[in-house]
Amino acid sequence: MKIAVIGSGYVGLVTGVCLAHIGHRVICVDNNREKVKSLKQGRIPIYEPGLEDLLKKYLKNKRLSFAVSIAEATRKSTAIFIAVGTPSKKDGEADLTYVEHVARDIARAMDSYKLIVEKSTVPADTGQRIKRTIRMNLPGKFCKGNDVTLDFDVASNPEFLREGCAVADFMNPDRVVIGVESAKAERILREMYAPLKPHMVVTDINSAELIKHASNSFLATKISFINAVSRICERLGADVLKVAEGMGFDKRIGRKFLDAGIGYGGSCFPKDVDAFIRLSEKSGYHFNLLKEVRQVNEEQKTFFLRLIEDKLWIVKKKTIGVLGLAFKPDTDDMRNAPSLDIIQALQREGARVKVYDPQAMPNARKALKNVVCCKDPYALAKGCDCLLLLTEWDEFRKLDFGKIKKLMDHAILFDGRNLYHDRDLHALGFEYYGVGRGMPKAKRS
Ligand SMILES: NC(=O)c1ccc[n+]([C@@H]2O[C@H](COP(=O)([O-])OP(=O)(O)OC[C@H]3O[C@@H](n4cnc5c(N)ncnc54)[C@H](O)[C@@H]3O)[C@@H](O)[C@H]2O)c1
Repeated sequence: MKIAVIGSGYVGLVTGVCLAHIGHRVICVDNNREKVKSLKQGRIPIYEPGLEDLLKKYLKNKRLSFAVSIAEATRKSTAIFIAVGTPSKKDGEADLTYVEHVARDIARAMDSYKLIVEKSTVPADTGQRIKRTIRMNLPGKFCKGNDVTLDFDVASNPEFLREGCAVADFMNPDRVVIGVESAKAERILREMYAPLKPHMVVTDINSAELIKHASNSFLATKISFINAVSRICERLGADVLKVAEGMGFDKRIGRKFLDAGIGYGGSCFPKDVDAFIRLSEKSGYHFNLLKEVRQVNEEQKTFFLRLIEDKLWIVKKKTIGVLGLAFKPDTDDMRNAPSLDIIQALQREGARVKVYDPQAMPNARKALKNVVCCKDPYALAKGCDCLLLLTEWDEFRKLDFGKIKKLMDHAILFDGRNLYHDRDLHALGFEYYGVGRGMPKAKRS
């Protein structure tokens, strides 16, 4: 099948490359010329395991190509994905400017049947607005008064991939959701995904759009729930890791997304929760549960900061080493990373901050000012008054904390992701603080 993907960011690029991998002929479009130039040379601008090798393979056999022209890609394709960004406006509502621009450009180039598929995360009703935009911008020869003579469909196909394992997620999806209004659109999308043999959920467009916002909001709720529990654990002398373990074995609950820490971040959860709250409000329902989820998430960073301030007493002129900056492991994405808020708050208090991340250093340099960038965790530890673990990269599990202790001025570790066992760190002589790891009363006395 001939497919165009407009927007070659995390989602568009993964979608384009993976669709080529399962046998389709794909043109990926982006309006960032530099990005397109480097993609044409087989270089990806993001860290995503496995993606670059596939990109090179399908560029070589010409199943995959890159362009800056939406018109060219539209004319050459049957199905056209819109995978551009949908950032938040000031009031939290999704800003659909890029989606509208792309829909307009697609419409102007249409000369035969096209299936336009929303891949971007958009609020319910966007599909209907895209349909209207396309009708209003079709070439004049296809418009007779209010009637449109060119056949086209709009569909929703939200993306659930996770950065860091995006290729694997795309190839082995839990489900593929499609929101369609015609048998033809359904047939095309079923055919497109058939090589993956996925479980297909077929709905109307509004429901498909809602599934994405509801799913991300639910996952964010799980995280805020366990974070709220972690605060009780701290007060009552319970261990949130054990609580999560005990809860997680219940199949109705599941262990995933029950990791207490410094809260969720990234380019999706914060914006999608905001957008869902706004969408609900506009529909006449006040989603107070989600407002609380957002509030707990924001407070989680403040609680962590208070813990640091409490234990260091005076933060000013202390040297703080930060292990991990990306919003989660296995990505270089710094968008809405909790590390940014935490580091900036400590800098406001007068702390000197050193940082290290296995992949996110180039993006972190753009986002942070006045930090000392270190080449590895040991260079980071040298002369520090304390360390903060903010992203749970696998390589941090195997650190030599004996060596780190010798390099530090004071062996204090604040573990914002509960990566370590307090016993191991205490045995090495560290002062160790996790999140929600309250000490039982018996041990305290
Ligand atoms: N990142 C994720 O993990 C993830 C997962 C699921 C869904 N989503 C959703 O997918 C959408 C895209 O997210 P992303 O992270 O890939 O964003 P991104 O910012 O990484 O990529 C968007 C790309 O679109 C390009 N673009 C913007 N306007 C364009 C235009 N007019 N023509 C051509 N290209 C244009 C930009 O240059 C950029 O490369 C968002 O709605 C997001 O919520 C993201």
